[in-house]
Amino acid sequence: MNYLCKGIDWRGFDEGSGKPLVFLHGFPFDRKLYQNSCQSLTDNYRVIVPDLPGFGESRFRSGFAPNCFEMSEYADGLAELLDKMGEFKVLVCGLSMGGYIAMQFFRRHSDRLSGLIFCDTRSTPDSPTVVKKRLLLADSIHQTGVQSLAAQMPPSLLSPTTLTSNQRIVTFLTEMIAEQEPSGIAAAARGMAVRDDSTDCLKTITVPTLFLVGEDDLISPPQVMREMAEAVNDSEFLTVPNSGHLPPLENPAFFTKAVRRFADRVYHGV
Ligand code: MLT
Repeated sequence: MNYLCKGIDWRGFDEGSGKPLVFLHGFPFDRKLYQNSCQSLTDNYRVIVPDLPGFGESRFRSGFAPNCFEMSEYADGLAELLDKMGEFKVLVCGLSMGGYIAMQFFRRHSDRLSGLIFCDTRSTPDSPTVVKKRLLLADSIHQTGVQSLAAQMPPSLLSPTTLTSNQRIVTFLTEMIAEQEPSGIAAAARGMAVRDDSTDCLKTITVPTLFLVGEDDLISPPQVMREMAEAVNDSEFLTVPNSGHLPPLENPAFFTKAVRRFADRVYHGV
């Protein structure tokens, strides 16, 4: 994938044919978050996994490195990307920050959704303490570097099982974070810090919506996501065993099966 939309070169994974499934990664990752879980869905679906602006290969160009990139800007960018790709209605799956963006996509482009998957995310805004932390990170990441962030993050993201018994995933995650650009991290951190409360929007969602959450997620715990699911009319709620915040990485088999079953229901009524 290589599409230029408003000064951003969108790169990513685009394979398979059929109805479109769009996967949005979390922070501070890129499309590789889904690489072990999405490939097999290409047998029946067009699978679109962009690197979000400022991440992976969708780097901000020099001269276009926004200080703050709001969730609505990612969502509008995605709408434009999908136009260029010839897709109008899509099923969007967003993990954590990807979920904040999916929510904005719903708020701004609801006519373009066939269904939604919210994975390990929340509808509430940041607490003042979290806002402070995000702004500190955004202001300091150019000096402190991404390596130290990459070394710190995995314990809060992964389940105890993954951490103790799957060094391959720990290393993969650490390396993926370490590859990100400070400018993309800073812009997204500031963007998350200013996002507003979407809780009231949940009851206005009319498309089928799946809520998926790792049983050991400490960042968006199962109870938080269960309450979100209860607010949506046509919703399903599933906890992912042996997973923390990152089911596509920690339990790809379960994640893929759940997505396939849901997509089959949304698109084919089975
Ligand atoms: C993510 O995985 O995208 C982050 O946990 C989101 C956040 O920091 O709120």
